[in-house]
Amino acid sequence: MERKLPVTYELQKKSGKARAGKITAPHGEIETPVFMPVGTQATVKTMTPEELESIGSQIILGNTYHLYLRPGDDLVAKFGGLHKFMNWNKPILTDSGGFQVFSLGSLRKITEKGVEFRSHIDGSKHTLTPEKSIHIQNNLGSDIVMLFDECPPGLSSREYIIPSIERTTRWARRCVEAHQRPDEQGLFAIVQGGIYEDLRDKSLNELSEMDSAFSGYAIGGLAVGEPREDMYRILDYIVEKCPENKPRYLMGVGEPLDMLEAVESGIDMMDCVQPTRIGRHGTVFTKYGRLVIKNASYAEDDRPLDEDCDCYVCRNFKRGYIRHLFKAEEVLGQRLATYHNLYFLLKLMKDARKAILEDRFKEFKDEFIKNYNMGKN
Ligand code: GUN
Ligand code: ZN
Repeated sequence: MERKLPVTYELQKKSGKARAGKITAPHGEIETPVFMPVGTQATVKTMTPEELESIGSQIILGNTYHLYLRPGDDLVAKFGGLHKFMNWNKPILTDSGGFQVFSLGSLRKITEKGVEFRSHIDGSKHTLTPEKSIHIQNNLGSDIVMLFDECPPGLSSREYIIPSIERTTRWARRCVEAHQRPDEQGLFAIVQGGIYEDLRDKSLNELSEMDSAFSGYAIGGLAVGEPREDMYRILDYIVEKCPENKPRYLMGVGEPLDMLEAVESGIDMMDCVQPTRIGRHGTVFTKYGRLVIKNASYAEDDRPLDEDCDCYVCRNFKRGYIRHLFKAEEVLGQRLATYHNLYFLLKLMKDARKAILEDRFKEFKDEFIKNYNMGKN
């Protein structure tokens, strides 16, 4: 008997391979393609949930690794789960922790059982296993739970990746088995395989054997140090092979040109710390490329960050003022840059969706790229 999955996808329109659709999750609906702001530590840095909602965020991310270490998933569960803890009532997706252990934890050791690591906070020793990752995500109560996987570095050899895929598949079985709330939280598979087409096939085929347990498929192991062309080639190859009737999520990508390329190959969801991270350091997206607001040339500039943007920041503040905030190390500068960057990427996906619905995605993409590469700020 097939049970009904808690997260479902409806395809509304295709333009080439690009898709416009609607995801239905326990905490609400999501129009795709969609960008998901990252709220690593139960907060999208500098943004209140009300602000996030006002700029059109439909779903945000949380992280198993961080919330397990601090404040602890049992504590979050005492508050009724992550939604209640942080006062965000729309969908949440949690990453499984494996990737963060590899990028943050020290002394990592992979075994069949899981990954041993030391906390980046106090150096204490921990082991994350497939069962533990799912248990933590069950405690957090996210709408979408990610499988516990291994994400090998971008330029790993075939010899490294083959056994890694096989272990990730065995871990996937353990995750499916361990999931305690399959009617309330959708499980997403993560396809690995580096920059090798046949290994992407291998990973997808192995995971597909458990298809009835999955609400969606993620493409992992990209944007991790491999050349851009390799990422684009793999996306173009593997995304269309994922089931049509489930959402497809590209993990860790939030650069405008990469996002459009991903949408063109059929990706529905993306996330990245980039817009918030670079924003806090004073770099913002504009129609004509990135702009580093601290540069002296903006001291007397009375234009908004992006002349084409109608966000609260661009309607109310000048470049010269925001530059001053950064030079004076005022926190408002970080807030304004973060707000604008998130707005920019959310709007980019909204515009992409509109273009798909009107079957003019390729023209939309070409026009955006032409402007973005001009770099005339
Ligand atoms: N974030 C970015 N890439 C990955 C990946 O391959 N796996 C997981 N779990 N998270 C990611
Ligand atoms: Zn703006």
